Amino acid sequence: MDERVVDQNVQHDDSPFDRTLRPKSLSDYIGQPKVKDSLEIGMEAAKLRSEPLEHLLVYGPPGLGKTTLALVVGHEMDVPVKVTSGPAIERPGDLAAILTSLDENGILFIDEIHRLSRVVEEVLYPAIEDFAIDIVIGKGPTSRSLRLNLKPFTLIGATTRFAMVSAPLRDRFGSVHRLEFYDNDALKEILIRSAELLNLNFHDEGLYEIAMRSRGTPRVANRLLRRVRDFAEVKADGVITGEIANEALLRLEVDNLGLDNVDHKVLRAIIEKFNGGPVGIDTIAASISEEADTVMDVYEPYLMQVGFLERTSRGRLATSLAYKHLGLNDLRTTQSSKSPQLPLENLE
Ligand code: ADE
Repeated sequence: MDERVVDQNVQHDDSPFDRTLRPKSLSDYIGQPKVKDSLEIGMEAAKLRSEPLEHLLVYGPPGLGKTTLALVVGHEMDVPVKVTSGPAIERPGDLAAILTSLDENGILFIDEIHRLSRVVEEVLYPAIEDFAIDIVIGKGPTSRSLRLNLKPFTLIGATTRFAMVSAPLRDRFGSVHRLEFYDNDALKEILIRSAELLNLNFHDEGLYEIAMRSRGTPRVANRLLRRVRDFAEVKADGVITGEIANEALLRLEVDNLGLDNVDHKVLRAIIEKFNGGPVGIDTIAASISEEADTVMDVYEPYLMQVGFLERTSRGRLATSLAYKHLGLNDLRTTQSSKSPQLPLENLE
């Protein structure tokens, strides 16, 4: 599939741009007030005790700033952050090598922590509980286990799939934080900060037009800003006005809620092929030639956030709002109000 401008996952040309715009301190980190408050207290307490911060698990859809938050915590605690991910740590030895190389009170950030294999997870348990790893020397009856102490450190785990983090791992985190989609005002603030860092000329309305279509996601907001900037420079005098932003976004085929043609395809599949649902996730994914995981991680959370999709025990259901947004008639309500009615003679 081609890259989508509203994809919440990292794309090939995001990185240099994202790095420039990433906030370093907590005061520059916009939104997520609950997470910020609780982290502020946790960090202050850890500093007072000269201890590492407790282990944190952060979860939420892609693009909401999980890695950014880990780097901000590192900056605030004045410690280095080692960044890796679940699938990158293939063998127990890989994790042991990382753990033994961490600095005192340093941070290990493991993205997609739900994808760690069971054997690697086993190494992590004593590491996060006792700051130690158990190394087995030799094989068979003569093998011995040797405990190796580690320097105290903080693990920050991140996941898009909270339910897929194993219970024993989940229970070992000192606190769990859920990142929420950002509202339009918070996204506009993020965009103002980005536009100022990039020395852009803009009207607030222009940035609001971008915010509205950013799917509650800073990564999408900053990517759309980059595309609108190009358009403003090529087609106008470089100033991002409401009108210019609108025109640029129209060309990118992002609708007024930030849905693109893939979102429309998902909704249309449910509505047109399965009469609005309920329909299973695997069936939806197959009908649009996508992986079920991608539909679940990337498309569904935002479609649910805007109230277009419901997860029920019998499958996914397109809501009346979804029909309305696509300009379709929802005949189901008229049908369901008629069907339970019995002929009058049967009620006697
Ligand atoms: N970039 C990504 N997330 C951000 C946030 N919460 N605040 C400011 N810039 C960001």
